[in-house]
Amino acid sequence: MAINREIKVKVKVPASSANLGPGFDAIGLALQIYNELTLSVAAGPISEVQIEGEGAALLPRDENHLSLRAAGVLFKAAGIKPPSWKLRQLNRIPAGSGLGSSSAAIVGGMIAANAFLPNPLSREQILELAAQMEGHPDNVAPAIYGGMVISCCDRGKLRTFKVPTAPGLRLLVAVPEITLATQAARRVLPEQVPLSDAVFNAGRAAALAAALSTGKEDVLSWATEDRLHQPYRCCLSPGSEAAMAAARRAGAGGAAISGAGPSIIAFWFERGDKDPRENLISAALRNAFAGAGIRCRIISTVPDYWGASLLS
Ligand code: HSE
Repeated sequence: MAINREIKVKVKVPASSANLGPGFDAIGLALQIYNELTLSVAAGPISEVQIEGEGAALLPRDENHLSLRAAGVLFKAAGIKPPSWKLRQLNRIPAGSGLGSSSAAIVGGMIAANAFLPNPLSREQILELAAQMEGHPDNVAPAIYGGMVISCCDRGKLRTFKVPTAPGLRLLVAVPEITLATQAARRVLPEQVPLSDAVFNAGRAAALAAALSTGKEDVLSWATEDRLHQPYRCCLSPGSEAAMAAARRAGAGGAAISGAGPSIIAFWFERGDKDPRENLISAALRNAFAGAGIRCRIISTVPDYWGASLLS
């Protein structure tokens, strides 16, 4: 089957914050921070990659680029040999920081490549492929669908449930100057946990989703507590525990390690125009990391509701 070699496809993919405390590998929220990717068929036999923005100095500029590898996985699933590609990427999602940059690269590569197929795959098929490639679904699902998405693996099949968040949800992300590979942050986790810890998290994960969808901010302080991953990961990122505690003291309803870290995400529901908490929480996060000798930048954002979209 022939692919359409004449088109140029532009895709925008949101960042995502996974786990949000107790929802390890299950809950993710898309954020209004976007990478853009433009894909066309290259004239010659070798793929060409141009990257601007976050991570540009570190990311591969050949077939090893994650978006092109993802395009290859999608073509393989469709039973079609991929062409050599011309990829242009504008990155705004900090890389290696726990904000879903690799999921955005995978989802962007798949959604862009899908537009070249004579029989494109559905978003559900792309989700399965992207989650397999990433190894867990909680970033790729919100990157594809937008909003807060709960993902569960049901006997080998991925189930997702998009839960609307209540109006006024505001988020601050403290991105420390260190980066952390997700694989390294997963290696510190135990294979098994006590039943009491599983019970601790099950109730909190359910309460977290309910609180975010109803705007019950007072619930967030306990509903963002976690015993499955954060206690093991805090040691990988100096200042992270202090930053979460400081954000809560400064008025954030909840605070958590974003994904596998090292970024910390703090969130609350804005009360009117004069809610002063953004500046207070921002200063608290910055000071807590500074106290551990780590510089960080602060990104202010809100949820993305749409997920990955084709711009042309
Ligand atoms: N749930 C994954 C983890 C997210 O915590 O390892 C990685 O971004």
